[in-house]
Amino acid sequence: MNPPLLELRGLTCRFSGQTVLDAIDLRVQHGERVALIGANGAGKSTLLQAISGLCPLHAGSIWLNGRRIDGLAPEQIARAGVARSFQTPQVYPKLSVADQLRCTLLAARRGGWLRRRAGDAALEHRVALWLQQLRLQSQADRRADELDDTSVRVLALGLALAADASLLVLDEPVAGMHRDQAERMAALIAQAAQQRTVLLVEHDLQTVFRLASRVVVLHHGRVLADSTPQAVRADPRVQAVYFGVGR
Ligand SMILES: Nc1ncnc2c1ncn2[C@@H]1O[C@H](COP(=O)(O)OP(=O)(O)O)[C@@H](O)[C@H]1O
Ligand SMILES: [Mg+2]
Repeated sequence: MNPPLLELRGLTCRFSGQTVLDAIDLRVQHGERVALIGANGAGKSTLLQAISGLCPLHAGSIWLNGRRIDGLAPEQIARAGVARSFQTPQVYPKLSVADQLRCTLLAARRGGWLRRRAGDAALEHRVALWLQQLRLQSQADRRADELDDTSVRVLALGLALAADASLLVLDEPVAGMHRDQAERMAALIAQAAQQRTVLLVEHDLQTVFRLASRVVVLHHGRVLADSTPQAVRADPRVQAVYFGVGR
């Protein structure tokens, strides 16, 4: 049988004596759309950071398609097929919106990119398509440091979606967006998910229940529940620690 796309085995992360992730076991199969939810401080972002090679492991291991990836540099993990968006959006402040999409799409071509430079018609067509899908056409030539916060979030998510990754790892992709914008981004994520596997952290439950085929609840660095969205929503333990209080 094929290995799962992503597997965490006994993933444990500690910060100054505090155990933030406590022996997490998790398998994500190809094509799944997994939402990770839990109260603030549950360890969600740390789990995503660990997958991306941005947080050292205290114990355990991380596997992508049967290959061990913990210990690799973040750029090696990205090249292995993991695209990321961050809770605080990461873009290139001095590059124009269109150039950032161009760079991402060129990088996604891997071996072909030296021969097919920026300016070729197929690439420009794809840049235009992404600008349209993200509704950033009017901002195409503006630098990211000239954009409003929401446009930066949209761009950062767009860059993750446009990367040719097998696993999309998204940390609160629609946080701070208006409802209609959140819906639009959820539609783009759903579209990208047709060819990719998605692991996302999200507080916006409408987005979670719209996108996820499976919901994992983290509580104090442990998996409290892991099931279908319907089963998780009905789980009294989850209601007590997450839906009921502090939301
Ligand atoms: N780099 C770090 N150094 C020290 N503590 C950290 C660091 N990153 C996260 N933590 C701690 O780990 C816990 C979980 O944080 P985080 O993963 O960001 O939670 P969540 O994303 O679920 O809100 C928090 O108590 C936080 O203070
Ligand atoms: Mg977080």
